[in-house]
Amino acid sequence: MSEEIKQRILKLSAEINQHNYNYYVKSAPTISDYEFDQLLKELEELEAQHPEYAFENSPTKRVGGDITRKFETVQHQYPMLSLSNTYSEDEIRDWEDRIHKLSDTNITYVCELKYDGVAIGIRYKNGQLTQAVTRGDGTQGEDVTTNVKTIKTIPLSVSSDAPTEFEIRGEIFFPLDNFNRLNEQKRIAGEELYANPRNTASGTLKLQDSKVVAERGLDCYLYGVYGEDLEFNSHSEAVETAEKWGFKTPDPAKQMIKKCASIDEIMLFIHYWDKERKKLPFEIDGVVIKVDNYDQQEQLGFTAKSPRWAIAYKFKAEQVRTRLNEVTYQVGRTGAITPVANLEPVQLAGTTVKRASLHNQDQIEKLELHIGDQVFVEKGGEIIPKIVGVDLEFRGEADEAVAFISTCPECGTPLIRRDGEAQHYCPNETGCPPQIKGKIEHFISRKAMNIEGLGPETIDLLYQEGLINDYADLYDLTFSQIVGLERMADKSANNALASIEASLQVPFERVLYALGIRHVGETVSKNLARYFGSLDQLKAASFDELVAVNDIGEKIAISIQEFFLDPKNLDIIDRLKAVGIKFDIEKQEGSSETLNGLTFVISGVFERISRDELKELIEQNGGKNTGSISAKTSYLVAGENMGPAKLEKAEKLGVKIISEDDFLTMIGG
Ligand code: IVH
Repeated sequence: MSEEIKQRILKLSAEINQHNYNYYVKSAPTISDYEFDQLLKELEELEAQHPEYAFENSPTKRVGGDITRKFETVQHQYPMLSLSNTYSEDEIRDWEDRIHKLSDTNITYVCELKYDGVAIGIRYKNGQLTQAVTRGDGTQGEDVTTNVKTIKTIPLSVSSDAPTEFEIRGEIFFPLDNFNRLNEQKRIAGEELYANPRNTASGTLKLQDSKVVAERGLDCYLYGVYGEDLEFNSHSEAVETAEKWGFKTPDPAKQMIKKCASIDEIMLFIHYWDKERKKLPFEIDGVVIKVDNYDQQEQLGFTAKSPRWAIAYKFKAEQVRTRLNEVTYQVGRTGAITPVANLEPVQLAGTTVKRASLHNQDQIEKLELHIGDQVFVEKGGEIIPKIVGVDLEFRGEADEAVAFISTCPECGTPLIRRDGEAQHYCPNETGCPPQIKGKIEHFISRKAMNIEGLGPETIDLLYQEGLINDYADLYDLTFSQIVGLERMADKSANNALASIEASLQVPFERVLYALGIRHVGETVSKNLARYFGSLDQLKAASFDELVAVNDIGEKIAISIQEFFLDPKNLDIIDRLKAVGIKFDIEKQEGSSETLNGLTFVISGVFERISRDELKELIEQNGGKNTGSISAKTSYLVAGENMGPAKLEKAEKLGVKIISEDDFLTMIGG
């Protein structure tokens, strides 16, 4: 039994770590906050019951995310803690009960909105904004002053009433109007949309170009003042005073902040905002309740991670029930089939929802979906809603169970499902229209060949007219062919042709990505290009040689070999070669072969260079960079706060451990 619990704890920790990475580092979460919190809660409970398995590096002991080094790292003068939170009203009642018992005097609470954005600490000296730092890991964050200074609601200088030195904390967020406008621009440009305002706010704060930050129109509400000898004795006074100094604080007239004397008043505030939050011009994910008086706050104190005097009540993702009218199927550029639920249109979180993604056959079976079912639709942090369940009360009115299709809805070819894969595929890569067009669209996309001036509509027209049937055909297009198309003026046609011509300069690693080999994304293309140096070498590689490359597993290796076995692909490559596309890697300035054949793992935080720079240097000098230690690893570059597990594994396998300085010496810098 205990072994089972230990395994569960390890598995949960690994899962949570991955989600933390997706969320903080990649800004691309794959689960909702609610699901994440449930995982964390399960882990916390297991650890409380079995402290012997509460590992030192457990994600429950971690306050924040990884720190990247694009911006300077700054130590927080006052640690930036988080709030304990709950989705349960009963737990709010329990919390209030405990507080009551701990303090015999009357207690006033302040209820506020929990703004869904990014925490920021802003320092002022002699009335001037001097520094703005992100939360980071709670102890140290990143200096994003230049970007924060672009936010119009944050004063660059404050009134002379303010103390000579203080720090103010708040939440930077993306107002919905500005976020929607940004996504509309992306939609017009045919680019992938941003998933949600919070992650986009976080990404925006870390942009290098503060002009872009300014254009995006972030905003900020303040919720705390820190400093020595502050003249106020309560949180509510702090907020009121901050407003006088020039900060944007919540408006009491709009019920955005409220003093409450009882749990009933707290509950009223929670219920009010659970309903009204849809009308706000920004997103909130809950309500924060704080003990108002500073002396009482001090009396209550802190746990390791959060104050005892405050708690957050989080709203569950909004859900609605509606009818499943039909399931249709989309065919992607690689032939992947995605089932889509077509719903009776319904209002959800401010938008009309008509469709929801169903991912794959397993998902449909798990939900046991029937056409005509009343389904629950939820909008988590993501733009595309999902079906989370079926209201079985209405099953009687439903029709037949959804049967997954067996042939391609676009070209009729029987579908395949490979071993171990969840997705069905249409194997007719060169004859199935959405696959043909999708491959061309991928080929010309920004991160691939970056050919501008040919949107999806133009690709469709060119395909309909029989002018292009694969991406190599793009290079045979003539001015008269393009200018004859609907809505194509002389200038646009010339621009498109110039952009096609310019794509001959695109480096090999992006060309490889542009080819659209299944499972060969941007990073894999980079690794392959650097390892093999040319398409001919890659084509000649054996299965064993392929899987020897970083991050290349069997699935990718098989896909690459299948690609080169298809005579149609070989013909396309010959035609691309003939027009002068780059199929060899070019030496970059500053590159060397010093680290050829060596494999590195980097771990921890570094003093002189960032992790990204370190990775870049490894690759530039011919080395390979991998995520985990194995017998194949040549060196472990160890920084500060490196995980003990990695160290232990490296020692066990006899992998050489070197410092950042040793590494720099190795490459002669
Ligand atoms: S008070 C010591 N008030 O929620 C606690 N936080 O995990 C200081 N947040 O990182 C936080 N709205 O970024 C506080 N009205 C509010 C808030 C708020 C949003 C964020 C904050 C913090 C997280 C709590």
